[in-house]
Amino acid sequence: MKRFIEYMLPPAKSPTAEITDALFYFINVASLIFIISITAAIIWFAWKYRRKSDDEVTPVISHNSKLEITWSVIPLILVMIVFAWGFQGYVNLRTVPSDAYEVRVVGKSWLWEFHYDNGNVSINELHVPVNRPVKLIMSSDDVIHSFYVPDYRVKRDVLPNRYSSLWFEANETGESVVFCTEYCGRAHSNMLATVIVHEQEEFETWLASAGAANDDMDPVERGEQLTNQYACVTCHSVDGSEILGPSFQGLFGSERTLASGETVTADENYIRESILEPNAKLVEGYDPVMPAFAGSLNDRQVDAIIEYIKTIE
Ligand code: CUA
Repeated sequence: MKRFIEYMLPPAKSPTAEITDALFYFINVASLIFIISITAAIIWFAWKYRRKSDDEVTPVISHNSKLEITWSVIPLILVMIVFAWGFQGYVNLRTVPSDAYEVRVVGKSWLWEFHYDNGNVSINELHVPVNRPVKLIMSSDDVIHSFYVPDYRVKRDVLPNRYSSLWFEANETGESVVFCTEYCGRAHSNMLATVIVHEQEEFETWLASAGAANDDMDPVERGEQLTNQYACVTCHSVDGSEILGPSFQGLFGSERTLASGETVTADENYIRESILEPNAKLVEGYDPVMPAFAGSLNDRQVDAIIEYIKTIE
């Protein structure tokens, strides 16, 4: 039975999962019992009451109160059980423990940005401490996204101009996948993130050092690291191929025709503006889909990305 359960759902890694799983199995097992018994009864009756001679007449039955009450009351009881159980689960998911660690989540086409209480930001990686409730306060910069962590059995829509929230408590260290489960455009399927669960102390260390830590690196190497970390490469290739945005290859110093008809040279200022406020000078032939990175990247990080782009010829 345990094997079967593990086959049906991924391992549950948060107490928020318990009630969801129990209800999931109850509904599935009840449905299975009913579908098997009803199918068997249909086959049995079809065979037992088949027409046996040419002059056989079907008896006229108008109703059967006992039977009708039975087949109304049994489903009613089942539906009430599912409702009460489901409502309890809903209340659990909506009642955030008061000692929860809060993280701000911003969904952008097509990445997840996480802001921590000390001002640090991480992209596509949510770092959390183990065995401590975590509350996510989420909103979107553009269209509707949906934040889903199968291991924790939590999923909630992420909306523009409005906060939504959810909570979970990771009860083992390791990694879990985050999916976007609301179709949000061409790179929807690439909108993935990882929850990285640390021991409490390790988490404190990560939080204190994250963000600024690597700013002393060689700018080109740092720039390459940032384009991966900030998911630039989800849309911008480095080999000249077109994904969703212009390739980084040969970008620096090239002439760009803007949607306004104006021609500009892709110099440092142009690239800087394109990162911080990408839709201010939209290149002809591209949709205004890139999220703005003003407030997410500091000046040294922008410098490093420009230095890196310069080297891709
Ligand atoms: Cu974001 Cu789909």
